Amino acid sequence: MAQIFVIDDDPAHLDQLKNLLEKQGHVVHTALQGLAAIKKINKNDEIEIVISSLTLSQGNGNQVLNWLRLHRNHIKVILLSTEEEAQNFTHAEKSKADAFSPKPVTEESLKKAIDLSLEPIGFDSDISYHPDKFGRVDVLDFISQKEIEHPIYVKLSNDNFYLIAHPGDLFAPEEVKKLIEKGIHYIYLKEKDFDHYLDINTQLVKATVLNKKVNFQKKTKTTLHTAELLCEQIRMRGLNDQNFAEVKELFKIYLNNTINEIDAEFYTEMLYSFGRTPYSHCSFSAIIATLLTQVMGWSSEKNSINLILGAYFHDIGMIHYSDELFFKLPTQMTAEEMKEYFHHPIKGAQMLSQLKEVPKEVIDIVQQHHENIFGTGFPKQMKKSSLFPMTRVITAIDYFCEIVQQILFNRENKLEYVLDELQSQNPTYFDESTMLALRCLIKEKKVKNAKLKYEAQS
Ligand SMILES: [Fe+2]
Ligand SMILES: [Fe+2]
Repeated sequence: MAQIFVIDDDPAHLDQLKNLLEKQGHVVHTALQGLAAIKKINKNDEIEIVISSLTLSQGNGNQVLNWLRLHRNHIKVILLSTEEEAQNFTHAEKSKADAFSPKPVTEESLKKAIDLSLEPIGFDSDISYHPDKFGRVDVLDFISQKEIEHPIYVKLSNDNFYLIAHPGDLFAPEEVKKLIEKGIHYIYLKEKDFDHYLDINTQLVKATVLNKKVNFQKKTKTTLHTAELLCEQIRMRGLNDQNFAEVKELFKIYLNNTINEIDAEFYTEMLYSFGRTPYSHCSFSAIIATLLTQVMGWSSEKNSINLILGAYFHDIGMIHYSDELFFKLPTQMTAEEMKEYFHHPIKGAQMLSQLKEVPKEVIDIVQQHHENIFGTGFPKQMKKSSLFPMTRVITAIDYFCEIVQQILFNRENKLEYVLDELQSQNPTYFDESTMLALRCLIKEKKVKNAKLKYEAQS
């Protein structure tokens, strides 16, 4: 229950709001005009929330808001507006309100706005908050015009987040483009909102991959996207039994529902849809691992899943690295960074060992993915005879993904460049069968043809 002050210049609407709020157990005070409201609020120290129509005949909701922010900053403010009015409201103005509710109001929308306005984090324009409490999402996810379900933030500096959109706002494509022009490629959701966003994506990807009418590219794209969101959740929450199980299920469904479509075009969309983050590296490695199990004709689902999980988690020991550090070459690293980098396979294996259901094969892959047959790898300079064979497949995939990344960073490079790079390598350094399968995949462009070529040459 709260002491709420409602302002609306339409007496009938004001009555309706009063009744709705009293039904929810609140104590309600009212005024038809902004000025009258300000006078009454000035004399009443118990008001906790002000709900005001944005457009009033004398003064408007925004003027009340400005007065409240100057004189009663502790009072939460909910503005009621139509979609059209909301679009004319600038972000700076929006940031002063605690919540918005669309007009006409319903019992449910009003309750949601009140709950939101009372959230402890508030809507200060500049929030200093731990980054682990926010989940990062590519701003392009919001390119299709839709109503925002959760508050959206951008990150200004290391620990400062700025609210740019409230629930109910329309985040138009132009807004997204403006952010990108300003060099903002990611938006942030609060932890529990991010979890909800991930849940919705997880359900969506399952429905997409299980749908026989959806093509291979779309299935792959949605799987990649959800795999990246799972990486972000692992960064925020840490690796746990639940998110490990979700990764496993995601790729199991992908593996079992794309096999029949393996003659779809492989590279055009997929290679170029490879994202800009370390998460893309992990998720993309897992997709390539899935395709290679098909090209190389692996029949055991258990082995395929272990390989795919090894690919996805191979760099999990670097999950807390910044994007910049993740993509630095060892030669560009400081001594401290280098030390940590050389430790990432062990750290990753330790993270996975804490969980109940992780197969030993996956842990071995993660721990050994920088070892090689010449005994010059790290962290243990293992000998060829002690290397777990699947690790060799992942080492080649890891290398392949790095070359593809170079394409992404330098658009002049074409896929022929990838092929040249693959062919120029010392044939004995990487696993020969894996390199052959990768070359077939690039040359043939279709997984089905790549498989035939691989079978003929191996
Ligand atoms: Fe690595
Ligand atoms: Fe890697």
